[in-house]
Amino acid sequence: MNPWAKHLEENIGEVLFDEATIAKRVQEMAQQINADYQPLNIEELVVIGVLRGSVVFMSDLIRQLQLPLTIDFIAISSYAKGTRTSGTVRILKDISESITDKHVLIIEDIVDTGLTLQCLTDLLQARRPKSLRLCTLLDKPSRRMVDLTPDYRGFEIPDDFVVGYGLDYAGHYRQVPYIGVLKPEAYQ
Ligand code: PRP
Repeated sequence: MNPWAKHLEENIGEVLFDEATIAKRVQEMAQQINADYQPLNIEELVVIGVLRGSVVFMSDLIRQLQLPLTIDFIAISSYAKGTRTSGTVRILKDISESITDKHVLIIEDIVDTGLTLQCLTDLLQARRPKSLRLCTLLDKPSRRMVDLTPDYRGFEIPDDFVVGYGLDYAGHYRQVPYIGVLKPEAYQ
């Protein structure tokens, strides 16, 4: 076994979603998005990935979208997690094109407290898109601090520390092709 495989074996406990399960769910989500937008005959859907966790999910999802679309990315600073304040986000890298009068779909890997997405939607709504929807692969509703329901969500998960398929711990594990629970001893 190579050192990386050994590291994963030692640090990742339960596999919540394997590659096949993720692929099937992503396909179902894409079918739903296709079914919702195709009848609208839109000129362009602007798919905005929230860096960096969304990139793996987004790259798989968009390849199944049968719609005219463009992609863009936004990077925001996280507020201090765990605080009870409403939190604000700061833009580290803004999207490259205007979204005024465009249909916009925001892509996230996970919604936890919901503070990031709430701030982000407020910020993007102020630019007057024609429509704005939220799509997340994972949802942890038990942690929610604001009233926010994604329009599309792949899986509801318990309050575990999950990594893989874009999700990180200290920047690592994003390339792991499945989603697993990081053992507490790996981060405590
Ligand atoms: C994660 C995730 C969301 C946010 C969700 O990003 O991608 O943006 O946290 O948490 P919330 O619902 O409690 O606001 P993170 O700050 O870990 O950055 P990353 O995408 O680069 O991993």
